[in-house]
Amino acid sequence: MLSFVQSVSLFFLASQSVLAYNFPYESVQLKDADVRKNPDIAFGKRPLKYQAKCKTFPGDANWPSVERWAAFNTSLDGALVRGIPPAASCYEGPYYDATKCAETQAGQFQSLWAQEDPIIPYMQWQLGNPCPVPPLGTTPPAAACNITSYPAYAVNATTVKQIQAAVNFARNYNIRLVIKNTGHDFVGRATGGGALLVWTHKLKAFESLTSFKVGKYKGKAARVGAALQQYDQHNYMREYDITMLAPGSTTVGSFGGYMQGGGFSTIVTGKLGLMADQVLGLEIVTADGKFVHADPYKNTDLFWAIRGGGPSNFGIVTSAVIKTYDVLPISVVDLTFQTNPITSNTSTGVQVPDEVFWKGIQIYFSKLVQWTDAKGVGWNYIYTVAPTATTKRTFEFIGQVNLPGFTAAKAKEFVAPLYAELQAAGINLTQPDPKYFASYPEQAFRPQGIGEVVGNGRFTSRLLPRDNFLNPKGSKFQKIMAAIRSWVEEGGYTFHSVDFTPTEKLAGWPGKDSAVNPHLRKSIAHFTGFDFASYGPDASPAQQIESHKRLDSYAQKFRDATPGSGAYMNEADVEEPNWKESFYGDNYHRLYQIKKARDPWGVFYAVTMVASDEWYVQGTQGLPSQQGRLCRK
Ligand SMILES: Cc1cc2nc3c(=O)[nH]c(=O)nc-3n(C[C@H](O)[C@H](O)[C@H](O)COP(=O)(O)OP(=O)(O)OC[C@H]3O[C@@H](n4cnc5c(N)ncnc54)[C@H](O)[C@@H]3O)c2cc1C
Ligand SMILES: *[C@@H]1O[C@H](CO)[C@@H](O)[C@H](O)[C@H]1NC(C)=O
Ligand SMILES: *[C@@H]1O[C@H](CO)[C@@H](O)[C@H](O)[C@H]1NC(C)=O
Ligand SMILES: *[C@@H]1O[C@H](CO)[C@@H](O)[C@H](O)[C@H]1NC(C)=O
Ligand SMILES: *[C@@H]1O[C@H](CO)[C@@H](O)[C@H](O)[C@H]1NC(C)=O
Ligand SMILES: *[C@@H]1O[C@H](CO)[C@@H](O)[C@H](O)[C@H]1NC(C)=O
Repeated sequence: MLSFVQSVSLFFLASQSVLAYNFPYESVQLKDADVRKNPDIAFGKRPLKYQAKCKTFPGDANWPSVERWAAFNTSLDGALVRGIPPAASCYEGPYYDATKCAETQAGQFQSLWAQEDPIIPYMQWQLGNPCPVPPLGTTPPAAACNITSYPAYAVNATTVKQIQAAVNFARNYNIRLVIKNTGHDFVGRATGGGALLVWTHKLKAFESLTSFKVGKYKGKAARVGAALQQYDQHNYMREYDITMLAPGSTTVGSFGGYMQGGGFSTIVTGKLGLMADQVLGLEIVTADGKFVHADPYKNTDLFWAIRGGGPSNFGIVTSAVIKTYDVLPISVVDLTFQTNPITSNTSTGVQVPDEVFWKGIQIYFSKLVQWTDAKGVGWNYIYTVAPTATTKRTFEFIGQVNLPGFTAAKAKEFVAPLYAELQAAGINLTQPDPKYFASYPEQAFRPQGIGEVVGNGRFTSRLLPRDNFLNPKGSKFQKIMAAIRSWVEEGGYTFHSVDFTPTEKLAGWPGKDSAVNPHLRKSIAHFTGFDFASYGPDASPAQQIESHKRLDSYAQKFRDATPGSGAYMNEADVEEPNWKESFYGDNYHRLYQIKKARDPWGVFYAVTMVASDEWYVQGTQGLPSQQGRLCRK
């Protein structure tokens, strides 16, 4: 793809002023002539007064015939793929393939592997665990792998035309439409049973622009394909000597769910804001099948909604123009302390009694205001190591502070008070020299993406308001500290937070006028917690419900400590209570109006997105999963 983009860049530069799009793959668009050849892909007009109660599901009488799918495939120039999960290759029957099964068994926990499959989501609970990868050396019967739970077909999109055709085909046949980019979604928004899936993973392209002007913005920018991932961005930052905001993990997609839900960087968000704040223009396929440009002056409703108002709900983004910046050096401070030796090696780590440990945690969090005021980003983990026959139960803290624009010496001086206070409290940490990186991509340079672990757990989170951290002696701060301690000590869960305040001021223009969750703007820490108990095929629905109930009871303590705040929709519980207020705040009403005006058919649906409560999934046994037929309430 890279060389393809480079080879056409001459044509592209010569003609960009007359083209309304960013990349050559966007010049291939659906024409009336294509529709004349195949009326199934006709553009959307006004919806019929009568709308079917449910989406059409495989096996229904009005499911398109084999011939219509074949004609659709012809319109797509052969890009239609059957929705067969890779694990099906490990079962008896028509999909058995020993080589593919071995690859599946080896790759199943690796994001670099999972992102290359058109249909599987990372977390299989999202589809009811329908076709688990069997243990090595076993070949279960075909019936144990339920293919019906998966999207029925995927469009392996390399042109805008294919995406337009897919939207039109799904709308005209009343078939559920879902969009997968990398499949990283924690919520279940990138998958659905019996759906037609648009796979955007091949839309990779990049162009650095030394100057770009729109409205009040004049400066560096870049054109970015919708499929770029963190590691692609890091490579381009090095190649062009620029800084861009990017996700924290190597394989997260930068301009799909991440940007459209907000998108924070674990390194530079304190200085540059969110990914939604970087966007200057968008190219979008809308629910009627049209391909449109949106910016602060054109299609302003879509431009506002897609920046932070939730992915996969207002259109399919094919590319964007984003702000870029000069090279930004970073200094990084790491610290860790614990209650007992983690291994039998008693000289590893600074060890303190339990009460001193929790005092140290308070000292760390008392610094967040100072760090975010200096445009830094902190992150941390607090976890327990269970006792063994020879070791006691242990608490460990791991933290890092990223300080963009700081020299190592300045960073050392800046965090010296933290070490002094920890020392005074009895945590004898020697202050290390901060790590200095001459540029942001050096901080986490992984040319091919190291990949991340694909899990199958449930998630919860809370945005902790800055207001609670202003006075570390006050009760608002102490309530949060009590919730953290209970989460780890009684709950036994790992606490994680990323600490940043993406204010409207940081967002600048046009970032500050977007659908980003207003609760994010006021937060200083994004707390997340994962349930490592099984949500896999070995846990019954009742067990899964019980485990989630326990997780939520501890999450509730954070909600109780932070009334009026919310949660970050991209890293949240699919069953977040009061999710409209929590994920959208005051923006919900305006987003709802845009949703109804732009998508009166309900072509786009994803759980927890605006207007999604008008739908439900059948046959999920009380679980928030996506495998069944989608119906209107
Ligand atoms: C290991 C890991 C690390 C993470 N780190 C961070 C982090 O540092 N900061 C942060 O903010 N979040 C982070 N996240 C959360 C991340 O923002 C979400 O998982 C996000 O949904 C990923 O988007 P994606 O496009 O890669 O994934 P997908 O699962 O492919 O898509 C997610 C959602 O976006 C929709 N979508 C995808 N592409 C498009 C498109 N082109 N047009 C319209 N809709 C589209 C999908 O339909 C789905 O609803 C992380 C997640 C993981 C698993
Ligand atoms: C679509 O057409 C291509 C090219 O002819 C073919 O390889 C592919 O299998 C077809 N897809 C389906 C689902 O039949
Ligand atoms: C998707 O399309 C690309 C480019 O045409 C091709 O290389 C790749 O094999 C296709 N993937 C699948 C799963 O069909
Ligand atoms: C214990 O850990 C320290 C610090 O990592 C290391 O220098 C030392 O060699 C280790 N000792 C043993 C016995 O493993
Ligand atoms: C603190 O640590 C330093 C270096 O490891 C050591 O020399 C010193 O004795 C320690 N002080 C206390 C009070 O434990
Ligand atoms: C397979 O999944 C579909 C969709 O969720 C469901 O309707 C069907 O009952 C499942 N079949 C089996 C055998 O579990």
